[in-house]
Amino acid sequence: MRMYDLIQKKKQGGALTKEEIGFLVGGFTSGEIPDYQMSAFLMAVCLKGMNEAETTELTLAMAASGDMLDLSRIEGIPADKHSTGGVGDKTSLIVGPLVASAGVPVAKMSGRGLGHTGGTIDKLESFPGFSTAISSERFLQNVNEMKLAIVGQTANLAPADKKIYALRDVTATVDSIPLIASSIMSKKLAAGSQVIVLDVKVGSGAFMKKLPAAVALAETMVRIGNRAGRKTYALLTDMNQPLGRTVGNSLEVREAIDALSGQAPDDLMTVSLRLAELMLVGCQKAASTAEAGETLRRLLASGKAKEKLAEFVARQGGDASYVYEPEKFEEAPYRLTVPAPETGYVAGIDAEEIGICSLLLGGGRTTKDSKIDLRVGLRLFKKLGEAVREGEELAVLFGADLDALQAAKERLLAAYRFSGQSPEVPPVIYGYVDGQGFHPEETA
Ligand code: URA
Repeated sequence: MRMYDLIQKKKQGGALTKEEIGFLVGGFTSGEIPDYQMSAFLMAVCLKGMNEAETTELTLAMAASGDMLDLSRIEGIPADKHSTGGVGDKTSLIVGPLVASAGVPVAKMSGRGLGHTGGTIDKLESFPGFSTAISSERFLQNVNEMKLAIVGQTANLAPADKKIYALRDVTATVDSIPLIASSIMSKKLAAGSQVIVLDVKVGSGAFMKKLPAAVALAETMVRIGNRAGRKTYALLTDMNQPLGRTVGNSLEVREAIDALSGQAPDDLMTVSLRLAELMLVGCQKAASTAEAGETLRRLLASGKAKEKLAEFVARQGGDASYVYEPEKFEEAPYRLTVPAPETGYVAGIDAEEIGICSLLLGGGRTTKDSKIDLRVGLRLFKKLGEAVREGEELAVLFGADLDALQAAKERLLAAYRFSGQSPEVPPVIYGYVDGQGFHPEETA
């Protein structure tokens, strides 16, 4: 078999066989197939697509390119959740403890932030002492004993994806449904959970700007997961503005603690609860999402979900007193208030630009090795559709450097659009996808 022939076949719109896909994934992972041939192939996929069977085979071959975690020693049905990426997305910090407090084992592998999007591991490290560097033995033990453990991605999990993603990033080949679906699902399959709940973001701050493309991506991932024997669901949620009101590591942790105390902004609470409901239904802890919702609301009201967060933080070496006394989180040295430049309604907030504001303040990485400041970030007082008066507080920035604060302020103002008319506000949830297809959200 020759890589040249496979590139040619895809260029002409042909469908690759399982053997051909196995050859190219194996050859690229081992280094026998060079970057330039893989780049040409990826571009051909972007232009000609892949059918469902090819996308499934690509996913399975990438998942099997490294370690496949064995979670069989976990008691119960382990569940995982994954977001396609957003700004202010702290749902894992809420959903993990919430679902675990309902008795569902959550064995989660999370990432760090890169660019304008944040990562769960950085956020958790806001708790002094917290570490994700625990042995696999300890990881399984924690899940069995208290239903929740979070570790960083191991070096050898889906290494084919790691290499392919690095190439896609620099060859303008990220925005392809078969390539995104295989990238995400290969890691989820290798991470071993039996139930996978995906949060597919839609809107200006997401990979998928429009609903039909997001539904197509969600349906592809759900079918791949189900074919691989994992019960898979996808929730389609809005990313036309940041989720919740905070962006930045420790600020987001504090907002997640508020959510576990029942005091989160509506959009954040709605998305977190719906993700958690799908996890409970998938793990057979509830017969319907309505029943799951009741259980989850009870766990929030009783304080059990918040207790689970404290237990989890302590188990992984963190200072759990911060869960009950969040004012202990160290604040950034400077605050800068951003007043509204005009009177009207908020008609647009560019979520990606808001993520970049946090990055400019030092809360994100420009390279994998940059050091981040967990204290910095921002809080938005005004979100889409809300009325605002000139001079009223639009947002507050938290920073450690006055020049960076000024630059972030200008960027934040440029990210907002105002209108004299009350604008139409997008829904928080567009619907969900299961094995039967897309179920649009019923509107009241
Ligand atoms: N997240 C991934 O892991 N891979 C993609 O291709 C896109 C988002």
